[in-house]
Amino acid sequence: MNKVLIIDDERSICDSLSFALEDDFQVLSTQNPQEGIEIVKNEDIDIVLLDLKIGNVNGIDVLRKIKHINEDTQVIVMTAYGSIESTVEAMKVGAIHYLLKPINIDELKVFMNKALDFRMLNSSLKNLRNIVVEDYSINGIIGRSKAFTNVLGKVEKVKDIDTTVLINGESGTGKDIIAKAIHFQGARKDERIEIVNCAAIPGNLLESELFGYEKGAFTGAVKKKLGKIELANNGTLFLDEIGEMDLGLQAKILRVVEDMTITPLGAEIPKKVDVRIIAATNKNLLEEVKNGRFREDLYYRLNVITIDLPNLTERREDIIPLSKFFLDKYNKKLNKNIAGFSVEAIRVLEKYDYPGNIRELENIIERAVALTDNPVIELEDLPENVLKFQNKPILSNNQYPISIGMSLKEIEKEAILRTLKHYDGNRTLAAECLGISIRNLQYKLKAYNYED
Ligand SMILES: Nc1ncnc2c1ncn2[C@@H]1O[C@H](COP(=O)(O)OP(=O)(O)O)[C@@H](O)[C@H]1O
Ligand SMILES: [Mg+2]
Repeated sequence: MNKVLIIDDERSICDSLSFALEDDFQVLSTQNPQEGIEIVKNEDIDIVLLDLKIGNVNGIDVLRKIKHINEDTQVIVMTAYGSIESTVEAMKVGAIHYLLKPINIDELKVFMNKALDFRMLNSSLKNLRNIVVEDYSINGIIGRSKAFTNVLGKVEKVKDIDTTVLINGESGTGKDIIAKAIHFQGARKDERIEIVNCAAIPGNLLESELFGYEKGAFTGAVKKKLGKIELANNGTLFLDEIGEMDLGLQAKILRVVEDMTITPLGAEIPKKVDVRIIAATNKNLLEEVKNGRFREDLYYRLNVITIDLPNLTERREDIIPLSKFFLDKYNKKLNKNIAGFSVEAIRVLEKYDYPGNIRELENIIERAVALTDNPVIELEDLPENVLKFQNKPILSNNQYPISIGMSLKEIEKEAILRTLKHYDGNRTLAAECLGISIRNLQYKLKAYNYED
């Protein structure tokens, strides 16, 4: 049962409300505001019914304290005077509804139920927001290779400032995820991020999508529509595939970037907005500028800070951690319990050339998880085009220096530690690669005082 606290200096009101509510709620009441505040501190109160004038105590002060103690406690204020100013103030301080005395019980119950619904929605929203923030936090973004650590370092540097960022990278390299990471880790994370895919929407629609329109701006504009730029006000506008935007619209976007004003279609006066712009493209924009397909001025405005996303083949060290991450993801999603990868499977995954980058790796793992009947992903669970790479040597920045003057012992140690690092600490894979037994590997690691 939900807990209600009544704070009113008139005993008869406390009693009659308690009586009316006690079938549906667990009711506490007090005539002493100080005691009321103590109760809020010690009990998990869902709703407070608060008199706005409790003897000579101002109910607004009590309300403020209650909200300070527990933001989630919903407060409905009751006032005998119908004093507009104090009720308005109460709403500003955080009361969810107000009622005039004498209290109509049916009306009160409706308001109480609404307050509970609101609280529930509010907490699910918070919860969802936390999940999203976590998904786009450093924990949800996989990659510790040098090439990718540089990217994460740049995200860290730009997230809290408003500078325009251009994200460059081939399809599937993680442009979306990086744009969202900048937003959800940054200063604007509590505001909206609006995403517009410039390639997916035809030119003329794209303009109204971005800028919105007034009612009657054109035939078919039966009511006013807010554009994404305005919706993103105070937050972030992510212009995905900006290389696909036509030149006319580019000129309008330039105005947004330069003066932060928009004029919705059919509107007379421009509006001020405050948006942080992140753009992404898989095209070489400078090349597009040279060919007259992209405005040079816009290019320089967008390109204040560039984040270049490496292809997956330039960060092969991340293949194993990414594969494990996607295995977890699809185990959960497809309700499977696949324990890992066979050594042969992981080897070939490391060698494959991924024209579709991370998205392709993700698809390969999803498919394997969905189809396999094996306890771990085996070679036979991987697609034909991947298997063709079985006999290729691993091509990656997996070289390390050996120089004259190093003893065989030192060379061995270097080889062992580098290999282990390459396999993300996985001793089975490292031992297999080095051609020694796991026990032998463990033994050597112990001798190096190695700890993971
Ligand atoms: N570093 C990463 N860690 C985890 N998942 C990633 C990472 N980079 C990309 N992904 C996943 O790979 C897929 C493709 O990434 P996406 O950001 O959509 O690429 P792009 O926008 O460059 O085409 C998405 O499902 C995304 O969640
Ligand atoms: Mg994308």
